[in-house]
Amino acid sequence: MNILATENKALITLFGATGDLAKRKLYTSLFKLYQKGYLADHFALLGTSRHELSDDEFEKMVLDSIKDIPAKDGEAEAFAKHFFYCAHDVTKPEHYVKLKDRLAELDKQFGTEGNRLFYMSMAPQFFGTIAINLKKQGLITDKGYNRLVIEKPFGRDFDSAKKLNDELSQTFEENQIFRIDHYLGKEMVQNIQALRFGNPIIEALWNNRYIDNIQVTLSEKLGVEERAGYYDKSGALRDMLQNHIMQVVAQLAMEEPVAFTDDDVRVEKIKALRSLRVYTPSEAAANFVRGQYDAGNGTNAYRNEDGVDPESGTETFVAAKLMFDNYRWSGVPFYVRTGKKLADKFTRIDVVFKKPLIDIFANPDAKNQNLASNVLTIYVEPKSGFALQLNAKHVGQGYTTEPVDLQFLQSDSAKKESPEPYERLFHDALEGNHTNFASWAEIAYAWKFVDVIRNLWDIEKPSFPNYVPGSMGPAAADELLARDGRKWVYRLNR
Ligand SMILES: NC(=O)c1ccc[n+]([C@@H]2O[C@H](COP(=O)([O-])OP(=O)(O)OC[C@H]3O[C@@H](n4cnc5c(N)ncnc54)[C@H](OP(=O)(O)O)[C@@H]3O)[C@@H](O)[C@H]2O)c1
Repeated sequence: MNILATENKALITLFGATGDLAKRKLYTSLFKLYQKGYLADHFALLGTSRHELSDDEFEKMVLDSIKDIPAKDGEAEAFAKHFFYCAHDVTKPEHYVKLKDRLAELDKQFGTEGNRLFYMSMAPQFFGTIAINLKKQGLITDKGYNRLVIEKPFGRDFDSAKKLNDELSQTFEENQIFRIDHYLGKEMVQNIQALRFGNPIIEALWNNRYIDNIQVTLSEKLGVEERAGYYDKSGALRDMLQNHIMQVVAQLAMEEPVAFTDDDVRVEKIKALRSLRVYTPSEAAANFVRGQYDAGNGTNAYRNEDGVDPESGTETFVAAKLMFDNYRWSGVPFYVRTGKKLADKFTRIDVVFKKPLIDIFANPDAKNQNLASNVLTIYVEPKSGFALQLNAKHVGQGYTTEPVDLQFLQSDSAKKESPEPYERLFHDALEGNHTNFASWAEIAYAWKFVDVIRNLWDIEKPSFPNYVPGSMGPAAADELLARDGRKWVYRLNR
């Protein structure tokens, strides 16, 4: 079925139209939707920022952003003709009047039937102000849809997130808000549900009777690069764990939804996060590990990076053990970790199954004859696919077992055709489909879980730096599992 076959009529207002995200990801994603016919004659985008730009200059900026995408003759130019610009300071209520008039004109000119999508691609301190002014200054229509797409971060803790949500709620209902978590736009993150709920042989074993532990690793090879100013105030806990990791974990832990609709999926994710054990401060201290990279392998220590406080206590690595207090997961740890300047860039999920209760192949006379655990690995990136590690007889005389892999990897051509996360998420927001966006309740539970350790780390001085670039983080991240008699499935051979 070609889900892009029907044109979506939409008038998009983009706040932060001259910013990095808009230029690198948003215009390219919209162009791909245009090339597929999903956006056609009846769409327009009004870009805003404080810069004074003419419509022509803005059009050129958009053309420059999409110049590397292969296109038919004249296609890029025709696309750029749908882009308009209005200089605007979001903090000045009087500026919204001009915006309102331009939107009314464009709505008429492009026949967008009152369908409005407001995309906030700018610093989070402005999100609340914009939402409030959109209503106060009359930019919300009563004809067509009004939707808000909002970038991360959604707050710095539960209190600030709640304040922001209260501000957004003055203008938009929960079902009109689309909170971006680009991990939810990734092919293999979306595939978790197909893998689980489309395969009885997997779902039948997806519980504490058969699963020993689940491991989620979001590993980055780069350091903070040009994001140092933002990152030093955020850290890995806020930047990666509270949002991306919690969203992945919720999909792994959730129950099967009644149907594959956005509402039904949300209900189950929320239920899963409700059963996540919120630690006491002493439990949090025991179940979280933080790290910061030192100098090594030809790179600077984090504290010596441009824009970073030389005495920074910000963590560039975090690992944690999560427990769900529900019937399905009681007793099964979810180990998660993420960090910068690690050995490689990849995201993977390892589901480690329990070993047989009795190992009939164990040979007391020989070492290393024990059966290995079955492991289901979901490769999210850079390779996409999954592998199932099973035990089989080693070929030859005698009888020893060895682990072997059944593997499915998406081909390079399939991966090339697969849309980028922002293209998927733009499409879903234009469709009004919330499946791959975070709801307020999910975000609230995630912050309540994270706030306990954040509050503790904010008062206790860390002994940083504590890991070398090119490693998989501090030794304490391995000890977190070793203490339970377990190991990370992905580890460096040293
Ligand atoms: N960049 C990424 O790869 C990335 C990835 C994930 C999430 N995000 C999120 O996406 C959002 C945008 O990030 P970005 O990297 O694109 O930021 P950015 O490059 O700093 O762009 C900010 C934009 O906001 C405009 N702006 C600033 N103050 C304004 C005001 N008072 N009134 C109107 N416009 C104003 C800026 O233009 P003027 O200065 O001309 O006004 C610019 O267009 C942030 O929430 C960020 O956390 C970004």
